[in-house]
Amino acid sequence: MSQPPQHLELTKVDIDFPTPNGPFKALQDINLTINKGEFVSLIGHSGCGKSTVLNIVAGLYQATNGGCLLDGKEVNAPGPERAVVFQNHSLLPWLTAYENVELAVKQVFGKSKSKAEMREWIEHNLSLVHMDHAMDKRPDEISGGMKQRVGIARALAMEPTVMLMDEPFGALDALTRAHLQDSLMEIQKDLNNTVIMITHDVDEAVLLSDRIVMMTNGPAATVGEILHIDLPRPRDRIALADDPQYNHYRHEVLTFLYEKQRTPDSGLSSKKKDEATLKVATGEHKPKAKGEDKAA
Ligand SMILES: Nc1ncnc2c1ncn2[C@@H]1O[C@H](COP(=O)(O)OP(=O)(O)OP(=O)(O)O)[C@@H](O)[C@H]1O
Ligand SMILES: [Mg+2]
Repeated sequence: MSQPPQHLELTKVDIDFPTPNGPFKALQDINLTINKGEFVSLIGHSGCGKSTVLNIVAGLYQATNGGCLLDGKEVNAPGPERAVVFQNHSLLPWLTAYENVELAVKQVFGKSKSKAEMREWIEHNLSLVHMDHAMDKRPDEISGGMKQRVGIARALAMEPTVMLMDEPFGALDALTRAHLQDSLMEIQKDLNNTVIMITHDVDEAVLLSDRIVMMTNGPAATVGEILHIDLPRPRDRIALADDPQYNHYRHEVLTFLYEKQRTPDSGLSSKKKDEATLKVATGEHKPKAKGEDKAA
């Protein structure tokens, strides 16, 4: 009897980018299988190829060798079942928050939902990210964190099977970031969609993920190690601050990044590396406090 297809499967993925000096092999032999509803983070030094992996799953890049299957179907173009959240909140500036979400909703549900149903659905998704109070504002009238929340609402409103998030909270202040991390955990628990998130933040990766995929440095980057985060959910950042298992996971990721993959051109300044090493050595690496949420 044949096996049922895996949910999301990257098999033997290589990618060569054309450059004036010949092909540049950014990724080599990426193999990764992701289960339905799983939260996977990609972590690795700047330039190693994280966004390239995400873009292949999004269907924006085509692998040179190997490929990506979603529920047994080959991915070779973008599709609404794979919504992408970019770091730089890519909202259309002339549309309100509501209209930005509406554009995506019309694309997916224009034929299956009535006007009233679409309005209710758009408002529901904006309220999931606590943006219902500002839905008639345009991007230039709201903060960076609010724009990011609209971007997440837009992605959620498409009811994607897979959410692809490229450093979604990278540009945000610590308080807004903590708030959105908590919201994302709640939403994902309710919807059980699969999430692949790129992050540079080790705390964020451990707090949110079921697995952390750690990538080696490029060129020809690949999956270095995979860490299973076996912490019960719901996860509370305050409670985890003193949790030995949490700190063990954190230490594993830092060791991978700053010892095993440490190179002179790893993309992090030596000051940052020293700070990270110092934090491990002193145990000063608490997750952000829950109370920080309120400022968002
Ligand atoms: N379209 C492209 N053409 C040529 N080279 C590319 C292209 N896209 C990415 N690269 C190269 O592939 C490598 C991986 O890039 P990628 O953007 O995936 O890195 P990243 O891990 O996301 O980095 P960061 O953390 O800085 O966002 C880099 O060396 C980059 O210069
Ligand atoms: Mg990137």
